[in-house]
Amino acid sequence: MGGLDRTAAVVLVGGQGSRLRPLTASTPKPMLPTAGVPFIGHLLSRIAAAGIRRVVLGTSYRAEVFSSYLGDGSSFGLQLDCVPEPEPLGTGGGIRHAADALEDDYDEIMVFNGDILSGVDLGAVVDEHRAASADATLHLVRVPDPTAFGCVPTDDSGRVERFLEKTLNPPTDQVNAGCYVFRREVVNAIPTGRAVSVERETFPGLLDRGARLQGHVESSYWLDLGTPAAFVRGCADLVQGIAPTSALPGPVGTALLLEGAKIAGSASLSDGTTLGREVVVGDGSRVIGSVVMDGARIGDNVTVTRSVIGPGAVIGDETVVNDAVVGDGVSVGAGCELREGVRLWPGITIPDGGLRFSGSA
Ligand code: GDD
Ligand code: MG
Repeated sequence: MGGLDRTAAVVLVGGQGSRLRPLTASTPKPMLPTAGVPFIGHLLSRIAAAGIRRVVLGTSYRAEVFSSYLGDGSSFGLQLDCVPEPEPLGTGGGIRHAADALEDDYDEIMVFNGDILSGVDLGAVVDEHRAASADATLHLVRVPDPTAFGCVPTDDSGRVERFLEKTLNPPTDQVNAGCYVFRREVVNAIPTGRAVSVERETFPGLLDRGARLQGHVESSYWLDLGTPAAFVRGCADLVQGIAPTSALPGPVGTALLLEGAKIAGSASLSDGTTLGREVVVGDGSRVIGSVVMDGARIGDNVTVTRSVIGPGAVIGDETVVNDAVVGDGVSVGAGCELREGVRLWPGITIPDGGLRFSGSA
């Protein structure tokens, strides 16, 4: 049903990524290294592969980091602009602000939350939008816990009945997957100059006024990388080829090693672990389904499971790290135990045996 040459993309990357602190203290969430490249690289590679050429990134938090990495987008085969907001405009305000930077040639705008790893067929979402003559079409997925998302019930024809953002009693497990197609006029009607939530204001307002919102339900791979557990899983899925991407800087396998990473002969890597540049893993250590960022050093007989070890961090011998986040440059001594939800803020030093507990911190 026609191509995507009159469809432009807006990618929202202005959020603070607060659930991923301390990793997002210095790096915005879409720029965190995931399977060796900033997350936004995986998303942009999928947008380009679908045939979209024109992209505007709506930035707010740490806006400068995006433009210095992405430039004009030509390395992705895209024509890309980063448009910083004067103040955070929310998701709806961010869409409007970014879309104002687009030329008149585009009559459809495809919007992406910048933290979603997904295998959805973008062309199929646009096809459904056109077939339904919709004002907006939303990619929807089914999840075990819909309370953390926008709940979106639809009727038999796929028409959206309601939009309930993070509701305690969701009437269905079908949720907003954070990817939309809008008719351009619908975006042009979003107010300017103030913060607007697309989820709490734009979608409910459109429904109240009788607009046609269509749901495109799909069951391909989908993950919001907003929490440490999801971030680690998304990285591991990319490395193992479970999550789709064409931006992986190496072959699909049980582990991805970037330039200069070294592991002792008796160490093992598994379950989609990534070792960043110049990482060192010592004798007898096991790194399972984890992300070890550039320059980190892991001692001997260490076990790291489903965790993130920040850039330049040091983990002492015999230490166990499970489901934890170790911030940039943290030094953890020998014989420590970091478990379930522990997060260590950048720069902290833990002496040998200085931390042994389970539970949140
Ligand atoms: N430009 C800009 N300005 N972007 C923003 C702003 C802003 O003020 N606030 C948030 N964003 C971006 C974030 O960077 C992210 O890419 C996207 O908007 C969504 O924000 P999140 O903070 O990740 O929202 P969420 O995950 O809690 O919920 C959203 O996504 C769910 C799917 O993962 C909602 O759209 C839910 O309805 C949806 O189910
Ligand atoms: Mg999110």
